[in-house]
Order: sequence, then structure tokens, then C-alpha cells
Amino acid sequence: MAGNKIIDLYCFEREIGKIGYDEDQKKSFFQYHPAFLKEGLYQNIFPLIFKRTAQTQVFSQFENETFRGLPPMIADSLPDMFGHIIFKTWLESNQKNSDKISVIEQLAYVANRGMGALSYQPAKHIPENATINLDEITDVLKKVLDNKRSVSADQLNSQSLLNIFKIGTSAGGARPKILISENKETAEIIPGDLEYSEKFNHYLVKLSLDDDLGYNREIIEYSYYLTAITLGISMMPSRLIDQKHFATLRFDRQNGKRKHILTATGMTGWDFKDPEFSRYENLFELAVYLKLPHRETDELFRRMIFNIVFCNTDDHLKNHSFIYDETSDKWNLSPAYDLTYSLNPLLNYKRTSRALSVNYKRADILLNDVLSIADKYTIKNARGIIEKTLNATDIWEQHAHELHIPGKIIESIKRDFNKLL
Ligand SMILES: Nc1ncnc2c1ncn2[C@@H]1O[C@H](COP(=O)(O)OP(=O)(O)OP(=O)(O)O)[C@@H](O)[C@H]1O
Ligand SMILES: [Mg+2]
Repeated sequence: MAGNKIIDLYCFEREIGKIGYDEDQKKSFFQYHPAFLKEGLYQNIFPLIFKRTAQTQVFSQFENETFRGLPPMIADSLPDMFGHIIFKTWLESNQKNSDKISVIEQLAYVANRGMGALSYQPAKHIPENATINLDEITDVLKKVLDNKRSVSADQLNSQSLLNIFKIGTSAGGARPKILISENKETAEIIPGDLEYSEKFNHYLVKLSLDDDLGYNREIIEYSYYLTAITLGISMMPSRLIDQKHFATLRFDRQNGKRKHILTATGMTGWDFKDPEFSRYENLFELAVYLKLPHRETDELFRRMIFNIVFCNTDDHLKNHSFIYDETSDKWNLSPAYDLTYSLNPLLNYKRTSRALSVNYKRADILLNDVLSIADKYTIKNARGIIEKTLNATDIWEQHAHELHIPGKIIESIKRDFNKLL
């Protein structure tokens, strides 16, 4: 193992192994804890990449922005674009230079507040606090993210920034978001980083910060959610908070437990920014490899059709996840998330390119393209799914009107719907 840049990986109250990163050699290391291997449980906890051996495993192939040198399953615990900005701003407000923080140190900040069930020890100490105020958080976030008017970290209220740091750096993705827990009896809201008991509902909240944009992205996402669930797509119950923030119950916090989850990118090492891997066919192959029940392959097909018809072009490999059942040692498709119109409705697009290709195409996808996948993976009633999804554009429009999405925006979004013709 390299130098002193090592951290312990835990899951389900057990030490799973050690992770190291050598900055000079640009190599990461993983070694299973012998007691964990000996116990023989959770054989499929990492179904790819790590071999089940007591030997140290060395990785040099993940040296890029997505994985930052780490094995992909571990890199899944690091924040993406939004969380990274918050991480940097908070460190700077504490007179620390974020460029000097190693990935292993960053995992020490993730500690036990990460998404899913993986945690890291020893942890960096972060002060505790119990209350949060959404308006204050959105105010501070607007300042942090306002790149027209740069705000130095010490101009920000340090308590709010600390709050945001704790609840805003765990989840991935580019959009501003925080984790909160809502007391089921009193409706009190507390930071959602450490709490996972059944007394609370645990939400991931995508915050609406651009009041003067002319439309609200989070309300659009909510209208997509309402439409997707009428099509039988499995999603966590979601709602709007203060009529503008999109809150979705977390699938990695259920029945008072942390659930182990991995994104398709985290599980396989397929970089979600790399077009070579970014194909729906790969996701279907992964479903076969993981032996998902056939109804989940059908569900994946339903999601693909939804994304194509409703122009969710940003359906990349980190927008698909899997959830581990520790009792059966098997994987399942996670509920769907981030289903939304992913373009700017104020702009006119001539041609848009999808994150995930279908039949080698990223645009102008036709019925035959999706049917080729349906045939290959023997999707039940593929034509029925397609027809029902195409008809749901009316359902969406109704929701959009009821949610007071401006008519101009509705028309613009509708123009991008794909009739698969
Ligand atoms: N209901 C949920 N339960 C648990 N984890 C979730 C849930 N919804 C989203 N996530 C996790 O949070 C991450 C970010 O969420 P989401 O994809 O909705 O945000 P985003 O910022 O819009 O992403 P993108 O950068 O793809 O636009 C997801 O990649 C997923 O890992
Ligand atoms: Mg996303």
C-alpha cells in the first residue's frame, strides 16, 4: 500500500477493505479486508472491477475527471460538478486550498454522509448543527453560484455555508441540490446527511435558484415525474416544496437503513462522458449480466422510450443506477430519477444529440431503432409501451398547464418531442 494516503472502506457495519492513492505514481489501490473475505457475505457487493482476492489490486486506468484516479465504485461517492463547487468554496472559507486536498482526504470528508451505504474512516471532523432554513440556503447558494459577481468565501455566512457543505456535497449531478430529512410527525426539517431513521422522510431536493429565468426547471421536472408515473415508470414519490423546489424521496435511505447503490458508471467504469460507452445497448447488456428480473429489462425499455419521446437527452450513465439487496446478494434497477426536459426551452434547437445512443444513433431515432432493442432483449409488449408513451404527451401537457408552466415554454418543449416517425 502506498504512503499514508489510505482510508478504510465500510459498508453494512463492516470493514470491507482499504483504499489508497499514490499521487506520484497516479495509481489507486484496493485491498479487501481478510475478515470480510473470510466471512463470505455480500459476494456481489462490487459485481465488476474488484476481484475477490486478498491481494492488493492496483488501478491506473481511471485517471480522469470522472473517476479522479479512484476505482469507479469509490469515485461514485465523490461529488460531481455542483458538490465540487460547494466543497471548494467551503474549504476556502476555512483557509484551506482545495487544490491541495487529495482524493483520499476528500473521501474522509464524505465519511458516513455519502449517498448509498459506503462510508469512509477515519473521518474528518465537521461541526454538528441541527436546523436548516431553505430560504437562507438558497440565498447563500445564489451567491456561491453567481459567476457574474464573484463572491469571496469569507463574505458568506459561515454557518449557512457549513450547512450547505454538509448537505450539498454528497449527491452527484450538476444542478444545485441538498439532502434533508423531514420529521414524519412534526414536519420539522433537519440536515439529511447523517439521519436515516424511520422517524423521518429523507429527501433529495433539487433547488430552484433562478427566479428570473422565465420558467422553473424544477417544476418542469415535476411535470415529467407526474407523466412518467402514469406510464408505470417506477420512481420515488416526489413533490414540490414551496411550489418551486423538486423534492424526491431517497431510494438509498429506506426503512431506516442505508441501501448500497451504484450508478451504471460507478459499477462498470464506463465514463458517462465517453461516447464510446454511452449506448443504451450497454445498459441492457449490464441488466443481463446482473441477471435482473425480466420485468426490470422491460422497465429499462420503458424509461428509454420515455427519454426519447419526451426529449430527455441527458440520460447519461450516471442517470441510471442499481440498488443492492443485501439479503439476497442481488442487484435490481433503482427507481428512475432525473427524468426531465434537459434542454433550454428558450432556445431553438435544430438538432440535438442524445447522451446514450440507440442503434448507434444519437439523433433522429426511429421506430425501427427502438424495435431493434426490443427484439434483441425480448421486451414484452414493446409496441404497446411505445404507443402508450406517445399518447402521454397529452397527459404531460395537461400537467404542464395545471402547474402554470408558461404557454410559450410548453410549446417549445412540445416541438422537441420525438414521435418516432
Ligand atoms: N430519489 C433518489 N434517491 C437517491 N439518490 C438519488 C435520487 N435521485 C437522484 N439521486 C442521485 O443523485 C444524483 C443527482 O441527481 P440528479 O441526476 O437528479 O441531479 P442533476 O444535477 O440534475 O444531474 P445531471 O448532472 O445529470 O443533470 C444522481 O446521479 C443519483 O445518484
Ligand atoms: Mg443526473
